[in-house]
Amino acid sequence: MTDTPSDGLMPFHAMEILKRAKVIEASGRSVCHLEVGEPGSPPAPGVIAAVQQALPQAQGYTNAKGLDALRDGLVGYYEDQHGVAVSADAIICTMGSSAGFILAFHTAFRPGARIAITRPGYPAYVNTLLGLGFGIAEIPLSVSTGWRLTGADIAAAYAQQPFEGLLFASPANPTGAAIDRAGLGDIIATCERLGITLISDEIYHGLDYRAPSVSALELTKNAIIINSFSKYYCMTGWRIGWMVLPEHLVRRAEILQQNLFISAPTLSQIAATAALGERDYAEAQKAGYAVNRLALDKGLRDLGFDVSGPSDGAFYAYVGISKFSNDSMAFCTRMLEEAGVAMTPGVDFDRVNGQGYVRLSYAGKPETISRALERMKTLLS
Ligand SMILES: Cc1ncc(COP(=O)(O)O)c(C=O)c1O
Repeated sequence: MTDTPSDGLMPFHAMEILKRAKVIEASGRSVCHLEVGEPGSPPAPGVIAAVQQALPQAQGYTNAKGLDALRDGLVGYYEDQHGVAVSADAIICTMGSSAGFILAFHTAFRPGARIAITRPGYPAYVNTLLGLGFGIAEIPLSVSTGWRLTGADIAAAYAQQPFEGLLFASPANPTGAAIDRAGLGDIIATCERLGITLISDEIYHGLDYRAPSVSALELTKNAIIINSFSKYYCMTGWRIGWMVLPEHLVRRAEILQQNLFISAPTLSQIAATAALGERDYAEAQKAGYAVNRLALDKGLRDLGFDVSGPSDGAFYAYVGISKFSNDSMAFCTRMLEEAGVAMTPGVDFDRVNGQGYVRLSYAGKPETISRALERMKTLLS
């Protein structure tokens, strides 16, 4: 199979690295996993207990939009965390944020429409949009501005070739860049001025290390908000997320959900409802990531990686490898094969400049970070 099918779909190299890492582990060697963006801890014990209790009854579909208890819980979440009143009717529970993207694209646009995304950015954005028959416009970001998207970036890309939608995440994957309230206001105002529908991917909310996460809902009623229990609540495998829609889009999204997915998994909705009450547990995980964030930043800097500073949020370091290589896949393969350290090549996130970068996840245990740094030191020095 070629790496570049004619419609532009690309494999997710992180998964190829993971596959090879599993083979290496099966041969008896240990691997430090810094390649996938997954919390190392399970969900809160209260989540497991709620599911165990509900298991005998929770066998059928739910309402397409999701359980009332979960949507009411999310209304409370927006009140408590963001100080905004959201109607439970505007919320649809989805199979992770991944299903939320599919609903959002088909709700707000028609195939053929162009949606802007950032470069670097989460690879599934490009692949999902192209795979579903939408077009993309890439907005290049720069390390010199902390990889943070601005209204000026959007306007410059729009002037070159207009687009109907913008999808971006803050904090972002792979850079961890987080946009503050003023920056978000600038992005929203630019989108409103140009008639661009904004999709705000808030999956890493709660994982900002510098200031509380700001939801686009605090500033506008016109954006589509996508969120998930995968990251902050440590529930990647439960495949549960949610979206909040502007009033005029709710009914179309509901109809698409009824037909595409019927409902999000019932047990996962019960788990998610419990998770909303377990923020202390989530905060304890975040405190661990915060320690890892600084240790990895210092360690990578000492080793000679190009590090622009600890990331604002999420749990990723996106760093330059100019001292070592100009081929990020070859560098990651060497790190895996010779040092037993798995990381993701920048080409996953940026098809133009990604050869000069790698992404390391610090969502695992502190010992994994320190062992990985030791192993890299031995190989690189
Ligand atoms: C920015 C971003 N959005 C969405 C997702 C998908 O998450 P989910 O598990 O909710 O489908 C990820 C996963 O890594 C991500 O990094």
